[in-house]
Amino acid sequence: MNNGIKILAIESSCDETAASVIINSKIASNIVATQDIHEQYGGVVPELASRQHQINIVPVVERALKEAGVSKNDLDAIACTQGPGLLGGLLVGVSFAKSLAQGLDLPLIGVHHMHAHILAHFIDDPQPQFPFLCLTVSGGHTQIVLVEDYLKMKVIGQTIDDAVGEAFDKSAKILGLPYPGGPLIDKYAKEGNPDFLKFADVEMANFDYSFSGIKTSILYTLRKEVAKDPDYVENNLSDICASIQKTLIDILIKKLIKASKSLGVNRVAIAGGVSANSGLRNKLSQLSEKLGWEVFIPAFQYCTDNAGMIAMAAHFKYLEKDFSDLSLRPDPRMPF
Ligand code: KG4
Ligand code: ZN
Repeated sequence: MNNGIKILAIESSCDETAASVIINSKIASNIVATQDIHEQYGGVVPELASRQHQINIVPVVERALKEAGVSKNDLDAIACTQGPGLLGGLLVGVSFAKSLAQGLDLPLIGVHHMHAHILAHFIDDPQPQFPFLCLTVSGGHTQIVLVEDYLKMKVIGQTIDDAVGEAFDKSAKILGLPYPGGPLIDKYAKEGNPDFLKFADVEMANFDYSFSGIKTSILYTLRKEVAKDPDYVENNLSDICASIQKTLIDILIKKLIKASKSLGVNRVAIAGGVSANSGLRNKLSQLSEKLGWEVFIPAFQYCTDNAGMIAMAAHFKYLEKDFSDLSLRPDPRMPF
């Protein structure tokens, strides 16, 4: 049996029930049960999500332990996502982690979901040196974060309304695509012309973002075209998706370049579900050559919600003895 520090981590903040075991700083298992039930509703239904978490959590945890070859009696700590996220889902993960920690008499570690997305960069090599900038893009967040150390990071810019993942998903909904539409826009965009349509973009001050205007611009542009030709979306789907994707990526990148220049930081990372987007990944690779950036993109499985990233964050907190007690409560709007 491996003698390292062994932590079991649980993630349940949205519609993925996930568990992972980390041994020292290496992920030994990473199990994710995705809830397909939400697809038919066009978005995550919180009540259904928490019921699915209740059903999934025991088998997911058992599989994570089995794949890692670790018995629960060998564990050194239990970690869970404390927030931000949907209260019902967080309650399932936090209650389960608390009971396990109490039953096994182990320390409990509460993890911030967005910190964990960023710390996913330390799962595999190459790992960024400090300081670096991280564009954190998910269904609930769009932030530019200055990361100064494993547990020292600050938001320097963020969206004032919708997250970019939401903009992807809402645009997909307008096009009649199922939830979550982000990956589908990415798929169709690969064959389309990104300059087919132009959408109005509102430039925000400093390093902040706004995506609600762009969603409206997409809606009105398409309504106008569909009034002339009812098959417009169907006949031009790839070109429309490529144009939407280009618009959203250009907005993201513009502020990232501004932040990199003004802070003099050339190490740039992406994190969160939207960092799975192939257009964004390609754009960053191009920029690494053009601007001399050192770019860090996590492995695909650590971009969207997973417990490996929660385990990685918990590992760093364990080293600092940054433990929670059994009064830990889920925090849907947990501050960064
Ligand atoms: O981080 P995540 O898995 O969950 C949250 O914490 O929100 O991010 C989910 C978001 C969804 O909006 C989804 O559509 C988007 O990430 N997403 C993508 C892609 N894969 C996931 N958006 C664009 N292109 C993708 N390939
Ligand atoms: Zn996430």
